[in-house]
Amino acid sequence: MKNTGRCRELLKEGAQVYLTESSNTERKTRYDLTSVIKNGQIINIDSQAPNQAVGEWVAESGLFGEVSLVRPEYTYGNSRFDFYIEAGERRILLEVKGVTLEEDGVAAFPDAPSERAVKHVKELIQAKRNGYEAYILFVLQMKQIECMVPNTAAQPEFTDVLREAKEAGVEILAYDCVVEADSMRLDQPVPVRLWTETVTLGRIGKPLFDWYDAGHRILPWRELPTPYRVWVSEIMLQQTRVEAVKPYFERFTGALPDIKSLAEAEEELLLKLWEGLGYYNRVRNMKRAAMQIEKEYGGQMPDTYEELIKLAGIGSYTAGAVASIAYGRKLPAVDGNVLRVVMRLLADASDIADTKVKRRVEDWLLQTMPSDRPGDFNQAMMELGATVCLPNGAPKCEECPLQKLCRAHGLGAMTDFPKKAAKKPRTIEEKTILMLRDEEKVALKKRPAKGLLAGMYEFPSLEGKQEEEAVLRYLKEMGLKVIRIQRLPEHKHIFSHREWHMSGYYIRVDELERAALTGAGEALLFADIDQIERDIPIPSAFAPFVEKMRLEG
Ligand code: ADE
Ligand code: SF4
Repeated sequence: MKNTGRCRELLKEGAQVYLTESSNTERKTRYDLTSVIKNGQIINIDSQAPNQAVGEWVAESGLFGEVSLVRPEYTYGNSRFDFYIEAGERRILLEVKGVTLEEDGVAAFPDAPSERAVKHVKELIQAKRNGYEAYILFVLQMKQIECMVPNTAAQPEFTDVLREAKEAGVEILAYDCVVEADSMRLDQPVPVRLWTETVTLGRIGKPLFDWYDAGHRILPWRELPTPYRVWVSEIMLQQTRVEAVKPYFERFTGALPDIKSLAEAEEELLLKLWEGLGYYNRVRNMKRAAMQIEKEYGGQMPDTYEELIKLAGIGSYTAGAVASIAYGRKLPAVDGNVLRVVMRLLADASDIADTKVKRRVEDWLLQTMPSDRPGDFNQAMMELGATVCLPNGAPKCEECPLQKLCRAHGLGAMTDFPKKAAKKPRTIEEKTILMLRDEEKVALKKRPAKGLLAGMYEFPSLEGKQEEEAVLRYLKEMGLKVIRIQRLPEHKHIFSHREWHMSGYYIRVDELERAALTGAGEALLFADIDQIERDIPIPSAFAPFVEKMRLEG
């Protein structure tokens, strides 16, 4: 019998094998070894079989269109490729690699270091650069394979060159085969995973869906996921928890039910509707985007990632969320929740503050997420992060559908991930708030049109922590007559890059209108309390002061 020396891991003592009688009468051995049984499954190990099967498959696969020429063993430059194919205008080079190594449903190539394999891939990259279409086709000589990986342990260079090929636009495909004792034919495509991380991520779809379908949260935007409603909810949810967002979402979409009404809304109304959610530029950007949509897309929210991401305030997360949830496009939506789940699943210690890390996770998820229900996949990942794989303290791994796949859990190191480089400390600003009150009127000033809390209203204030005497002197310069001054409790408000440490005074004055300007020359506005509550957007940084005003009503 001819033994090619291949597949040593399969040819164990006692293995059941299939032989075929050799047609070559010159040879000393009478039989060729074609197949072997492993775990009840038949694996073809004939080194000639893949090329033969591909030869039969090329035309009928439909992958290359109407094929007019198939030439095996094609010499191109200094290299020889397995096939050259012409189909219409297309000129295609195809290199075939037979795969017999398999473990736990994952097929791997090569089984031993192969300089030749590396060389072939390099040459294909060159051919691609020279205008050919180039394909590497892994023929898995068996069935029941979950995915195909390069065997980095056997030959790291092969993994590297394969990634380089993919980058260069070489198509990398794998097909499993229906194997019988005396024949083999290509059957179904199998995903090729060039990063081991994507093997794990490729497995989460089913358990995640089972968990999500067994009882996900009912949320208003999920009931009626129009593009507009998905967009509004995703923007609100960027910095705010689901429970807190719900009433805001209902109020906002009630007042502004569509893109047109948002595009036409007055800024003050927008800020009022957003009051308390913080990060007010989000709603300003939404209005700008709505105007863009009105102008450029006839009022219809665009449905591609590329168009969505051009809109004001829409980054890769929101573009992915809208495109997947509202339009069913297969795109990831990676927010902080998803990033945390993925880094824990992979026990990946990369710094998640680095935007390259987020981009890499997006790329991995794009390669591995199920093609059906992409919107549900993304929302299930977010929901898992928000309700199970919790950010602070211990995640609830005992409830997690991904526990068996999770490396951080396997290591007992859940809280070591994700890693995040320390941020630079926030700047601290001290200020003294002046609540000037005359009967029902309160003095307010408008913040500048640019920068933090732009365009919103606030109480006049002094820089630093001022004593009562300094405040009284200041008010006198403004021409105000103080009836009573009362010190207010101190209050701290934390923004992303800044903290306000506020002290304040509640000051009853006479003839408030005489002070048209602050001491710094900024215009004052006098509003009565009802009007403030109804129409005037005041950031939540001032909430305790607004509350005081209300109580003193
Ligand atoms: N967080 C942000 N968007 C979400 C969504 N669509 N579902 C659940 N949590 C979210
Ligand atoms: Fe997160 Fe635990 Fe699930 Fe891992 S097992 S994804 S750490 S909840």
